[in-house]
Amino acid sequence: MSRAEDAVLNALREAADAFVSGEDISRRLKVSRTAVWKGVEVLRELGYEIDGEPKRGYRLLSVPDKLFADEISRGLDVKTIGSRILSYEAVDSTNDVAMDLGERGMPEGTCVLAEYQKKGRGRMGRAWVSPKGKNLILSVLLRPALSASELPRITLLAGVTAVRAVRAVTGIRLGIKWPNDLYYQDRKVCGILTEMKAETDKVRYAVMGIGLNVNAAVSELPPQSVSLKKIARKAVSRVELAREFLRQLDGDYARFKKEGFRGVMAEWEEHSITTGKPVTVQHRGKSLRGQAVGIDEDGALWVRRDNGIQERVTAGNVSHDRRN
Ligand code: BTN
Repeated sequence: MSRAEDAVLNALREAADAFVSGEDISRRLKVSRTAVWKGVEVLRELGYEIDGEPKRGYRLLSVPDKLFADEISRGLDVKTIGSRILSYEAVDSTNDVAMDLGERGMPEGTCVLAEYQKKGRGRMGRAWVSPKGKNLILSVLLRPALSASELPRITLLAGVTAVRAVRAVTGIRLGIKWPNDLYYQDRKVCGILTEMKAETDKVRYAVMGIGLNVNAAVSELPPQSVSLKKIARKAVSRVELAREFLRQLDGDYARFKKEGFRGVMAEWEEHSITTGKPVTVQHRGKSLRGQAVGIDEDGALWVRRDNGIQERVTAGNVSHDRRN
């Protein structure tokens, strides 16, 4: 969206439900009436519904649920996370775009969104499948003062933030499956993938990428997945969700930097659906069975084997078992 269109949109927003004449807008913005008309046309093409009446002028009827950077950042009161937002129609992976921005020195908190990923990535080398224009695909560039082994703390933090943001916007309570998959009953709603560039074990920059199934139909998603729309039985605003997530993460990340991981740990445990469950952990061809005990300060999962010995799990795929 160009500056002119942005200015026309602002004028329409200010008028709220009322009509504002083309002449008024042109006088206020110091542009010709043709420029105003063209701006309105571009906005309509972008999906803004704008009523136009010859004698009364223009009126904004609805905004599209597109992940436009302007829509997400409008009035967003954040210090770091989401202070810069870039949005794309299609990219290979928003994590790649954000990693590249990290390399190029962009500031912490820069956020990348896309309507579609051609090569969306999940954990453990899996693909992340998300239909065009329906879900939330978002990555945030971070520059935490952490060692590489401490980075999972960020992933756990983001999981907790996402649970809270989804609850605030939709009222839906999601549970966290270690380390940071969000579930509704036994179906996955959201996944988080944190990647980093480290030097001599210090994180230089990291990217936290989140994929949230918002408005996709279940048939468009991988098996055992569900969307917020399906759960809520109505469409959910992706813009509102993105704004709430960024606002909450801004506060959570600032607190995490000041107070450390303890607060996050407690909240993670509150939402955990893994703690206390019989689990099987698969990692590098090995399989570990036992009961999930909980997480430690690094976000690692402790599992008590049947023989009573506890093992610390830092990576792998956890499945919740039905046995006791
Ligand atoms: C998982 O559950 O395996 C993690 C999925 C992470 C998906 C997100 S979508 C935004 C970002 N870009 C990617 O390519 N992956 C993450």
